[in-house]
Amino acid sequence: MLNTLTSAVIFGAAVVSAAPAAWGPMSNWGQGASSTVSSYSAGQTPFSFPLANGFPNVSDATLHDIEEAAHGTLPNGALPTEINATSAIVLELIAFNELFEVAFFTSLIQNITSNVEGFQIDSQVLRSFVLETLIAVQAQEELHALGANGILASAGRTQIQPCEYVFPVDNFDDAIGLARTFTDVVLGTLQDAQNTFATDGDAELVALIGSVIGQEGEQNGYYRSLLNLIPSSNPFLTRSAGQFAFSALNQNFVVNGSCPPVDNVLFNAIPILGALTVDTANILLEDQTLTFSVKSSSTDFSEYSVVFINQQNLPVVEPITNVKSSAGTVTFDAHFPGAQFIMDGLTIAAVTKSAGPFASVPEVAANSVFGPGLIEIN
Ligand SMILES: *[C@@H]1O[C@H](CO)[C@@H](O)[C@H](O)[C@H]1NC(C)=O
Ligand SMILES: *[C@@H]1O[C@H](CO)[C@@H](O)[C@H](O)[C@H]1NC(C)=O
Ligand SMILES: *[C@@H]1O[C@H](CO)[C@@H](O)[C@H](O)[C@H]1NC(C)=O
Ligand SMILES: *[C@@H]1O[C@H](CO)[C@@H](O)[C@H](O)[C@H]1NC(C)=O
Repeated sequence: MLNTLTSAVIFGAAVVSAAPAAWGPMSNWGQGASSTVSSYSAGQTPFSFPLANGFPNVSDATLHDIEEAAHGTLPNGALPTEINATSAIVLELIAFNELFEVAFFTSLIQNITSNVEGFQIDSQVLRSFVLETLIAVQAQEELHALGANGILASAGRTQIQPCEYVFPVDNFDDAIGLARTFTDVVLGTLQDAQNTFATDGDAELVALIGSVIGQEGEQNGYYRSLLNLIPSSNPFLTRSAGQFAFSALNQNFVVNGSCPPVDNVLFNAIPILGALTVDTANILLEDQTLTFSVKSSSTDFSEYSVVFINQQNLPVVEPITNVKSSAGTVTFDAHFPGAQFIMDGLTIAAVTKSAGPFASVPEVAANSVFGPGLIEIN
């Protein structure tokens, strides 16, 4: 029962009505809303759609070409003609994310193909295998986006259209590292999607999402291998929540103001948190003190805590210490019990309005002011 309620709060229209209680004064809410990417380094041209093949608007013939490149088809069974409003928000978030992923992999393929500085792969065998892999992934992500929008269309809900994007990487290794991290966030967020569908009357969608989780996991094993990491990161992958995924996409990749008005269905439903920067670099699997920073005019963090989410464990709540402020940037520390809880793989850090305790990840998200800070170990 608790799960039903909390995931509704994360994903659904319920977010809007629950916001005052969960978030307090609107000034706090506003703090996070302006954290989308507003500037990017000189020389970076934002990625914009449509693709050369017309995507996201494709003819039947083009769809067939995408399916061939993807090594498979969109599900060909009947689509639901009705879905819960909460499920619609979840599918809209999935489409929003998949459109970003199409942009990312299209740009990455272009960079490798045209030997952009930083993206040259000298070994011809490796280069052609990487491209063969990414071309399939890119087409598969196109189908994930078309699939989510297809269900939304069939159910008479708003379909999501692409924004413009920037990618904060300028070389192949960092691009693969980034792909590994955003895929980890997706793998955690789709757990939340399944939970929502299973509890809001749309259980028929749970298996479909399961098929995508496995698919994204296959991708991630390859990205991890390229990074010289063992393919499988943990016994149980880290749980995330819709708010964390939507915040991360907007904080890092989406060009502010570039989304078409139809996407407001998402912006009105899911709050964007203030960005949380993890200042400590090269974090190892140790118990240690980590340093974070946020943009905030207030320095009263006395009620706030840092929460760490890793694998399927209870969120770890740590007090905030050593708060310092300079020119609108607040820096602070928190203890990170990395070795104690064997926090390999993705850890999601968030700053919450209270010390909890929090029984679930959706509860953390609903009480977060800043986040997600994304920490990857091993
Ligand atoms: C994003 O754009 C909106 C208006 O489109 C503006 O109010 C907001 O300040 C912008 N945020 C940033 C970080 O530039
Ligand atoms: C796709 O088609 C829709 C509906 O005709 C249109 O509003 C949108 O601009 C098109 N998207 C792109 C990227 O061309
Ligand atoms: C492609 O290269 C450009 C130029 O270095 C860079 O700005 C962009 O982030 C790269 N794209 C990806 C997905 O790495
Ligand atoms: C939609 O989901 C909410 C919980 O997220 C639930 O309270 C409601 O009963 C559902 N509606 C239907 C028609 O199943």
